[in-house]
Amino acid sequence: MKKIIAVDGPAGAGKSTVSKIVAARLGYTYIDTGAMYRAVALKVLLTKKSVEDVTRDIEIKLDEAGKIFLDGRDVTKEIRTPEVSRGASDVAKFGIVRKKLTELQREMAAHGSVIMDGRDIGTQVLPNADLKIFLTASVEERARRRFEELKEKNFSADFEQIKKEISLRDKQDSEREIAPLAQAEDAILLDSTALSIEQVVEEILRLAR
Ligand code: DC
Repeated sequence: MKKIIAVDGPAGAGKSTVSKIVAARLGYTYIDTGAMYRAVALKVLLTKKSVEDVTRDIEIKLDEAGKIFLDGRDVTKEIRTPEVSRGASDVAKFGIVRKKLTELQREMAAHGSVIMDGRDIGTQVLPNADLKIFLTASVEERARRRFEELKEKNFSADFEQIKKEISLRDKQDSEREIAPLAQAEDAILLDSTALSIEQVVEEILRLAR
C-alpha cells in the first residue's frame, strides 16, 4: 500500500540526511522540497528577472538519484551555496512560488510511497500524510553540524556567521505569512540535538512501522 511520510523542521536539523536513509531502507522515493525553492532562487539570481516572471516559466525536476534539474540543467551542486540558501528563504515568501511548488510536490507524491521533507509538508502540502515528523535541534547544534560539514569539504567557515545565518532563516521561515514553518498538530516532535543520525533514522523507522 502507498504510504506517505512528511518531515518538517528548521534548517540544519538533519531532515534530508535522515530522510534519504529512511527512503532507502523502506524503498520509498525521497523528495527534497527545499531543493525546489533553491532552484527558483538560483534562477532569480542568474537571470535577474522578477520572482513572478521566473515562476511562470520554470521547469524543475528531481531524479531518482536525488539530482535536481533547472530547465533541463543539473544544478545539484550550484543550489547549495549560502547565497542560494538566503535566496530560497526569500522566494519562499511569495504565494505564486508556493502555489506552483506545492502543486508539483503533490503530483510527485501522488503515485508511489514517498518521504518528503520541507517546512510545510505536514501542514499544507500533504496534510493527510500517514506519519508526520517535526525534526528539530538547537541552533548551536545545527550550526555546529553545518560548520563541520563545510570544514570536511575544505570550505572556509565561520561558526558565528553560520549561526547567525541559520537564526535568520529560522526567523524568516517561521514568520512568513503563507505556509510558515510550523509543527502540524498531529506531527511527532523529534529533537535530534543529542541524537546520532542512526538514532533518528531508527526512531522514524519504528514510528513508520
Ligand atoms: O531545506 P532547505 O534548507 O534546502 O530549504 C531552503 C529554503 O526553502 C528554506 O529556508 C525555506 C524554503 N522552503 C520552504 O519554504 N518550504 C519548504 N517546503 C521547503 C523549503
